[in-house]
Amino acid sequence: MSADTVVPEMVRVEKDHSEKACFSDDRLAEIEALVKRYPSVQSALMPVLYMAQEDYGYLSMDTQQMIADVLGLRLMQVREVVTFYTMFREQPCGSYLLEVCTNAGCMLNGANELVAHMCETLQIKIGETTPDGMFTVIEVECAGACGGAPVVQVNNVYHEKATAESMDALIAECRTAGGQ
Ligand code: FES
Repeated sequence: MSADTVVPEMVRVEKDHSEKACFSDDRLAEIEALVKRYPSVQSALMPVLYMAQEDYGYLSMDTQQMIADVLGLRLMQVREVVTFYTMFREQPCGSYLLEVCTNAGCMLNGANELVAHMCETLQIKIGETTPDGMFTVIEVECAGACGGAPVVQVNNVYHEKATAESMDALIAECRTAGGQ
């Protein structure tokens, strides 16, 4: 891995959903300001989903209901968006979410072998999280960076022309950053 490789920020994993989800006052003020920027409240839905995912780690049904309540939308309107876009998560994931594009461009450049290698390194299957909660590996459709195939997105950081070696190095860096 090159010296200037960026180790992604860890996903904030909200562990306790036993209490009803509730945005902080700061978040509510942020949302209020955001809504004013759009002609319709529905236009603010995606940025609010990102905020909630940042705060809670994933979008539980409670969280989706909270968003619907805050924006004055029906739960179904929220679910239509959450279930359509793969960047929204309905399940908890590891601190580092490794999203491997296995669409045609990446597949032709070794994505299937790459994801198999990553799963072997981490001793998990696609869709699983390591027992220490550090890493989740999933497959995604085209990440929109086909020129850099194969592409792996780690949290919000793209890694293009990824190789088994570069992913091993990144995983090691993430482990170090995560204190393991
Ligand atoms: S096919 Fe992988 S980024 Fe487009």
